[in-house]
Amino acid sequence: MTDAGPVPVATDPRSSVRKRVFVVGAGIMGSGIAAQCALAGYPVTLEDVSEELARRGLASAERAMTHAVDRKKLAAGDRDAALTRIDVAIGLRRAEAAQIVVEAAPENLALKRAVFRELEGAASPTALLASNTSSLPITSIAQELADPGRVVGVHFFNPVLQMPLVELIPGHRTRPEVVRAARTFAESLGKTVVTSADTPGFVTTRAMAVLVNEAAWMLSEGVATRDDIDTAYKLGFHHPMGPFELTDLVGVDTAVAILDVLWDGYRDSRYRVCPLLRTMVAAKKLGRKTGEGFYVYPEAK
Ligand SMILES: NC(=O)c1ccc[n+]([C@@H]2O[C@H](COP(=O)([O-])OP(=O)(O)OC[C@H]3O[C@@H](n4cnc5c(N)ncnc54)[C@H](O)[C@@H]3O)[C@@H](O)[C@H]2O)c1
Repeated sequence: MTDAGPVPVATDPRSSVRKRVFVVGAGIMGSGIAAQCALAGYPVTLEDVSEELARRGLASAERAMTHAVDRKKLAAGDRDAALTRIDVAIGLRRAEAAQIVVEAAPENLALKRAVFRELEGAASPTALLASNTSSLPITSIAQELADPGRVVGVHFFNPVLQMPLVELIPGHRTRPEVVRAARTFAESLGKTVVTSADTPGFVTTRAMAVLVNEAAWMLSEGVATRDDIDTAYKLGFHHPMGPFELTDLVGVDTAVAILDVLWDGYRDSRYRVCPLLRTMVAAKKLGRKTGEGFYVYPEAK
């Protein structure tokens, strides 16, 4: 991951009247997106399927901000102010008060379609509906909606506070004003925006998926050890993280889900999932979020 400069915070005195953001899914990405939006001055509701998960997401958002404070990228006062702007919710009903909705639920097409169907009824008809999907076509996510033109891909990177990029993905039916509003939103968070066509994996995930899958194949074939492969990518290509460190950060389950989307979308053997990754998912070795993946994380729950 590239270490960006200071974390952008609200400087506009009118930021207290910013639009409300509703984040669906309080996992790795939802918690980071909530933190980033709150720091930029947005009031944020962080939603999940249970109070425990939503609160865990809020705790992750706080940890991410504290990490930025420790690295002197953020003032403690800005963190404290941002935390007062985040509340938690269970269920999508509370989306009605938001003008911007960012969906960060698991990478599963049926689940995301169901979430957007419910959001279409729950959210204000004028609210921006964004998906943080890293690989699923936006057109497909929105295809069952009465108005698919209001859905757009706004793909953040992990960890959200440190990664300066947002990939913007207009679906085939997304209206131009929705795309403009999404760009304005991402730029208000201090992100640099690149645009991708609505193809499986867009630009960044296609590149990342091949990189981590190839590393897993090399490990399975005994080409080199885990540590040597990670070191080779870091020192040979100047990558800030090795592919196994990256997979643990992303989540092994998410990496497999992404490769499956790419396989379904292209039927190209480049995207054939290395069986080692599936075995790790079956063993719940999902990476940092479960405390063990390619590496062990004793500090994780
Ligand atoms: N992990 C990454 O590095 C990364 C990076 C960019 C984009 N993404 C994308 O972001 C999305 C979320 O990924 P993540 O890594 O945060 O996953 P995660 O598993 O960490 O979190 C997903 C959260 O969504 C919740 N959830 C499940 N069903 C839900 C529902 N119906 N309504 C609301 N919440 C629900 C889960 O309880 C969980 O807390 C995926 O689409 C993924 O592809 C992930």
